[in-house]
Amino acid sequence: MKQALTFIRAVFVSGVTSLVLISAAQARLSDPWLPNEASLSLQKIVENISPPDGRPGAIIAARSKEKPNYYYHWVRDAGIVMVGVANEYAVANPHDKPILRRKLSEYLDFSTYIQKVPAPTGLGEPKFNVDGSAYTGPWGRPQNDGPALRAISLIHWALVLIREGQIDFVRAKMYDARVGVASVIKNDLEYVSHHWTQPSFDLWEEVRGDHFYTRMVQRRAMIEGSRLAELMGDHGASAWYSRQARLLETELMKFWDPARGYFMATLNQVEGLDYKTSQLDTAVILGLLHGSLNDGFLPFSDPRVLSTLDKISKSFVQTFSINQKGNIPGVAIGRYPEDRYGGVDFNGGNPWPLCTLALAEAYYRAAGEVVRHGGTSPTTKLAAGKMAMAMLDLGDVYVQRVQFHANVDGSLSEQMDRNTGFMTSVPDLTWNYAAVLSTLWERNATATQMQTLAARKR
Ligand code: NOJ
Ligand code: NOJ
Repeated sequence: MKQALTFIRAVFVSGVTSLVLISAAQARLSDPWLPNEASLSLQKIVENISPPDGRPGAIIAARSKEKPNYYYHWVRDAGIVMVGVANEYAVANPHDKPILRRKLSEYLDFSTYIQKVPAPTGLGEPKFNVDGSAYTGPWGRPQNDGPALRAISLIHWALVLIREGQIDFVRAKMYDARVGVASVIKNDLEYVSHHWTQPSFDLWEEVRGDHFYTRMVQRRAMIEGSRLAELMGDHGASAWYSRQARLLETELMKFWDPARGYFMATLNQVEGLDYKTSQLDTAVILGLLHGSLNDGFLPFSDPRVLSTLDKISKSFVQTFSINQKGNIPGVAIGRYPEDRYGGVDFNGGNPWPLCTLALAEAYYRAAGEVVRHGGTSPTTKLAAGKMAMAMLDLGDVYVQRVQFHANVDGSLSEQMDRNTGFMTSVPDLTWNYAAVLSTLWERNATATQMQTLAARKR
């Protein structure tokens, strides 16, 4: 934590009023890379939903069919991506809206279909063939973040539909409160609420145990599920989901290691890789992001979270030679320092765009919180404004880092070579583009709050 704050303070432009700093933030917003990248990202996401040779609503992790084959519907990747698409739909222009609507409704149908397909681990099954049949080859299963993320994405879509006056459709196709009647969202909520205590494979599909990432998204599914259940008149279920969320919170706090100064990725490992000794893992940041409800539970400005961000970033400075070259902005971030997965081989891990963007988004969110809770006196507001600006700047550096390694056409592969920096492993990983969208959302949200603060001071 001390190091994080020292670093943040070191970036301060001292002696400048927060008003000036805030208009600087506005100016930087006009840097077109991230907004341009976001438009491209939405297009790329749309291309990867409902491939021509698949069942409508399948979302391919990437179009690569070999070395490695990512031509599957991963429940996790799909859920993460569709949260973004539902958010985009809500603000889309009249041209994009019908396209996004069709993709969301196909995804709903596909999800409903694959829930009924017999699969080795039922709702915890991590990936499906694009025709909707189960992938039955050897794999790390179950992965219990999947049903939580699927529920979260469908709840977001359901809330949009309810706002459009379509609660009857939601009741018929998405959430049925009647006892014994199966419906897609409730199926996942029931699965999460009854199975979360059981060990499962992590989001990197390598270790079976209890994971911070999985717990965070399970908590969010339980809270958002509880709210939807209430709305649908399912009061008993609502209370039950909300109780599970409280229990998950207690579990989540056990991942904090005060001696190491960070939240660990996994506890109670039962099987899988044995070389992840540091337990430092960007999965923790992704868990905070994908599980975030802005409800005060583990906010990004929490000193323990800031310390975790800082420790993760520093570990990758040592891990990758590309981070020791001085002349490139920021730090390229990988999954975890001991990673060996290079996409085609196990000769060494690489930095990933979606992991690097996670740092950016986390600092943007921290900056937003600092502004919101900046206090009432002019002095605390000024201090908060400066602190937030520094965090926003820090976030920007990670975005610039991804920009630096991106292909010239803006496309992003799963990884960036640890020595040369060039894009490597599968091209056009769908999840990357969802990460671009959420990073821009959070940057815009924070910059808007800063402008509001500045306006109030005038
Ligand atoms: C493929 C997984 O998707 C990847 O995350 C993992 O590192 C390798 N298999 C090895 O288990
Ligand atoms: C490997 C990653 O480790 C995993 O998180 C992801 O779900 C799959 N690739 C598909 O993108």
